[in-house]
Amino acid sequence: MKELFFESLDSTNSYLKRNYAQLDDLTFVRAAYQEKGRGRNGRKWLSKSGDSLMFSLLIKDEELFDNYKALSVLSAYSVLKVLEDYGLKDLSIKWPNDVYVSDKKICGILLEAVSTTKIECLIIGIGLNVKQKSFEGDYRQKPVSVEMLVDEEIDSEELRKKLYFELLKNIERLKDGEDLYSAISEYDYLKGSEAYASIDGNKKSVKVLGMDNDYTLKVKDGERILSLNSDEISFHI
Ligand code: BTN
Repeated sequence: MKELFFESLDSTNSYLKRNYAQLDDLTFVRAAYQEKGRGRNGRKWLSKSGDSLMFSLLIKDEELFDNYKALSVLSAYSVLKVLEDYGLKDLSIKWPNDVYVSDKKICGILLEAVSTTKIECLIIGIGLNVKQKSFEGDYRQKPVSVEMLVDEEIDSEELRKKLYFELLKNIERLKDGEDLYSAISEYDYLKGSEAYASIDGNKKSVKVLGMDNDYTLKVKDGERILSLNSDEISFHI
């Protein structure tokens, strides 16, 4: 495992997209500040310098390329497990990979694939709110940070090491063929909820049955049961 650290970058995911060819499998790239932090579905990921832990992990092991859905959820699970050790309660995974505390988001993950004629690598980008005291701006539900939930100042360096360790440990378990589904599905935030989903361009009310063991999301649309990938659905709960 190797880490590259930058005071400022456009985006740690973008850095890996440009430089993956020269870098080893399991290289972490971290930045204290991102000028153009990116979120899922083309959104921006904004954070002041030092407030969030922001890093990306490069995956070049082809064995994992077919397993990207599991990898995506597993990344959220790894963050969640570390936060549990810090005493945070009511943690869950909002499929495909947001980490929530009650109804508030604490961590977002952007998994990207770089392809030419074939997949070249996967990039797991993680943004965890750590030091924010409040969140200004236009949110449907305001996010939360670790320090807003614990009575101590968080040592970001220690938290970072624990996250790296947990992530690498769980990736190894996935490669070993260990079935992590039952552990992960205990933390399914969306299970049982009614949601408006945009399916094939049409906005529909669906009942969420939960994360399936292939890490797609099972929903009930009338009498139809559908297994959805994250690019096929967006939620308006
Ligand atoms: C989301 O919630 O929409 C995903 C947010 C992912 C943010 C992280 S921060 C580190 C990495 N670099 C980026 O530009 N994005 C991810």
